[in-house]
Amino acid sequence: MSKILVTGGMGYIGSHTVVELQNSGFEVIIIDNLSNSSIEVLTGIEKITGIRPDFENIDCVDYVNLDRMLESRPDIDGIIHFAASKAVGESVEKPLLYYHNNLVSLINLLQLMPIHKIRNFVFSSSCTVYGQPDELPVSEQAPIKPACSPYGNTKQICEEIIRDTVHAARNDYKAILLRYFNPIGAHPSALIGELPNGVPNNLLPFVTQTAMGIRPELKVFGNDYNTPDGSCIRDYINVVDLARAHVVAIKRMINQVSTANIETFNLGTGRGLSVLEIINSFERVNGVKVPYQIVGRREGDIEQVWAAPDFANKALGWKALETIDDTLKSAWAWEKHLAEVKAEKENGHE
Ligand code: UD1
Repeated sequence: MSKILVTGGMGYIGSHTVVELQNSGFEVIIIDNLSNSSIEVLTGIEKITGIRPDFENIDCVDYVNLDRMLESRPDIDGIIHFAASKAVGESVEKPLLYYHNNLVSLINLLQLMPIHKIRNFVFSSSCTVYGQPDELPVSEQAPIKPACSPYGNTKQICEEIIRDTVHAARNDYKAILLRYFNPIGAHPSALIGELPNGVPNNLLPFVTQTAMGIRPELKVFGNDYNTPDGSCIRDYINVVDLARAHVVAIKRMINQVSTANIETFNLGTGRGLSVLEIINSFERVNGVKVPYQIVGRREGDIEQVWAAPDFANKALGWKALETIDDTLKSAWAWEKHLAEVKAEKENGHE
């Protein structure tokens, strides 16, 4: 059985990927510092797959502990690296935190890989590297634009660090860079999902919390963009679809399907939806209201971006399959699950 180390495996995309890996027969080791996740995620994963993954609370910035952990778990076949700080606004306020966390974590892992004879690496990148693309849909060949935030810059720099490392090592490393568009939704069981820390920055958690009455109203950032309804357009991809792509990517390297030592894939649906379309669809499929108000544009927002996922579709044999309606239903089911858990805790029987 192949063994995969998942850094940040307790997080939103990480936890869904752990489930898909386990369902595909992989043995999974999770490391996470729980800075933006909860230990209860392990129980959610176990309820879905029947397997409680091996977990250690480790910060990837901590080289000594990482080394010790890898020493105690030999024969790891690959690493999927999610662990990173990801709030765009926070990165503008605390750039050094972002550069330190995201770059040092990556460098530590890449340094330790040859020492522990680990060859395969999947990196969690983002469509943010394209900025506002000149052409839509955006393919992997589109130029990388100057980053709009320190967060975005860490993704660009990390991609370059991986490229240089793979190149220098010739055949010792294989890496796949996965550029995510906008992951949304939750596992259909509603046992794992996104757990935003405080006030959500991203659209979907804000929509679900507003529908639940946790927030009085959603602010739609701008309706004067050059788009059909004036609101921004994104490529919203179901998180389970996204998670499945990681399983395909790691198998591709382990089974040496490709001769390339480094490959980059866009993970999106190929379809752009506006903020207003998302709100309307969410209300329609779930039969709930999302009070909202149009406000000014959010600084740094890109007007429109959606993926050309053709390379991933063809080379990986992977495709986003879930419909937007089912995805929006899953997001609401997860918010309702969180409300139930909260009510149970308040009533004193956990
Ligand atoms: C951005 C980055 C993405 C990064 C993510 C991390 C781009 C294209 N994408 O996603 O790489 O991983 O941040 O957080 O730069 N919106 C509202 N009201 C809200 C929240 C959002 O109207 O309360 C709108 C935004 O203006 C945007 C859309 O919803 O048009 C999606 O926003 P969000 O979920 O924050 O994701 P991005 O900004 O696209």
